[in-house]
Amino acid sequence: MAAKNGVVVCTPLECESLEEMVTSMEKAKEEGADMVELCMASMAVPCHSQALDEIIKRRNLPAIVSFRLKSSKGGCNNTCLKVLKRAVELNVEFVEMDYEVACKVNMAEYFGSNSRIIVSNDVNGGKPSVEKLADLIACMQATRADVIKLDICVDYITDLAPIFTVLTHCQVPLIAMAVGSKGLISQLLAPKFGGFLVYGSLGGKPVPGLPSLLSLRQIYRLEYMNADTKVFGVISNPVAHSKGPILHNPAFRHMGYNGIYVPMLVDDIEEFFETYSGSDFAGFSVGIPHKEAAVRCCDEVHPLAKSIGAVNTIVRRPMDGKLIGYNTDCEASISAIEDALREREVSRNGTSHGTSSPISGRSFVLIGAGGAGRAMAFGAKYKGARIVIFNRNYERAKALANAVSGEAFPYETLEKFRPETGAILANSSAVGMKPNSDQSPVSKEALRAYDLVFDAVYTPRITRLLKEAAEVGVTAVSGVEMFVRQALCQFRLFTGGLAPEDFMRKLVIEQF
Ligand SMILES: NC(=O)c1ccc[n+]([C@@H]2O[C@H](COP(=O)([O-])OP(=O)(O)OC[C@H]3O[C@@H](n4cnc5c(N)ncnc54)[C@H](OP(=O)(O)O)[C@@H]3O)[C@@H](O)[C@H]2O)c1
Repeated sequence: MAAKNGVVVCTPLECESLEEMVTSMEKAKEEGADMVELCMASMAVPCHSQALDEIIKRRNLPAIVSFRLKSSKGGCNNTCLKVLKRAVELNVEFVEMDYEVACKVNMAEYFGSNSRIIVSNDVNGGKPSVEKLADLIACMQATRADVIKLDICVDYITDLAPIFTVLTHCQVPLIAMAVGSKGLISQLLAPKFGGFLVYGSLGGKPVPGLPSLLSLRQIYRLEYMNADTKVFGVISNPVAHSKGPILHNPAFRHMGYNGIYVPMLVDDIEEFFETYSGSDFAGFSVGIPHKEAAVRCCDEVHPLAKSIGAVNTIVRRPMDGKLIGYNTDCEASISAIEDALREREVSRNGTSHGTSSPISGRSFVLIGAGGAGRAMAFGAKYKGARIVIFNRNYERAKALANAVSGEAFPYETLEKFRPETGAILANSSAVGMKPNSDQSPVSKEALRAYDLVFDAVYTPRITRLLKEAAEVGVTAVSGVEMFVRQALCQFRLFTGGLAPEDFMRKLVIEQF
């Protein structure tokens, strides 16, 4: 049932009918669950105990039988007790009871069979403290529960830190589930901190805060995790679009490196680093909108990143725990454009002449002046291009143009702008990114004026901008190429070793 490290992956099943419950159990098994939680309170059946008998007869996985009064579809206290008692008589592996119920009943009636008792409680009302959680656990232990479960409502990712502390120190098996989108890493990192069980959602039935079963089995592979596992992650808001996890996690395993890479939905990056200051939290990719603020969070910043004013990679230096900031976007984007120009020249002329950058002397028309935009402006400037910037926030465009001795124009004039021959158009704005993939920062007609179009946006892989550039015969370079290059560089910084380039490229082709 459990993995080598003892981690059990469980899927909560909230179903109205018996047949739906049985079908969902089969699906959970197919998707890799070790256990199911049969949430009996969700069922709209005349007799819950009878339904339970039938489900247990037809089940294909070990189970938790729960009856949470708060989610009951009409079942009362009496029904709840009947169902839980019946589950004990049927020797179901785990029987879960609300703490308020456990306080009222004679618990001796529930012990003595092979079933182990989980006592669960909700924790609401702002940031939980270690003391508050520890006190609550102590009270819950008094019920003689075999396992304690806490459903915790969190507002910020930093609210999870006390949960990791209590998981590490708790003397009794503990399940801690932080509910909602900020809670995701409470499940993904639970095995590292000694969590008893991890919840994953069934395909097609997403639950905010729960990883999908398929992602647990195919991407995160928690069975490899232990207390020494180093934690890496992408700090971003939004973060769900990030492809980092599907690239870095398999690459860690491919290289035999004990690490996990998780999405981190961060609101305040400074508070994040104050909270997660231990050596376990070893490295970070930084995404929207934190790249500029990330510079202030670092103890040392690489000179290139410093001049760009944006950090997209942070590594905690093992010897002194200091945070070191880098920018891998610059080299990744500019080298992707250079290689595309060289390859085109080779295919046209049979050779690529000269050692200077093919960007040198060209106009580099940049859309956007955020973190990625700054990296590209400095990179192109360094290679000898003339920089022209359009950004929705004109003041920001002017400031960046000033820093790279370029020109800035109002965003609204991009459509009418006529660049010099041989110009490169590079989109570093978020326009065209999923879910707004029907958008493009400039019309198809206007693209004819450029020699090459690059789009930093990589979800979708072929943006509307790139599709339309190709349609009018302009060389189009995808942000996916930039993504692979910066990820390779990040992997080297994270692990201090070589990145498995062929393996990572193959993954990107298969998965993006
Ligand atoms: N391929 C890769 O490896 C890679 C790496 C980094 C980034 N990216 C992509 O590049 C894009 C920007 O990322 P970032 O890190 O630079 O983010 P950022 O620092 O938050 O900057 C966002 C930029 O997009 C502009 N923008 C956002 N919404 C807009 C809208 N509706 N209309 C016009 N402009 C808009 C912003 O303009 P204002 O200044 O006016 O707000 C700003 O210039 C994202 O799509 C990201 O996924 C890709």
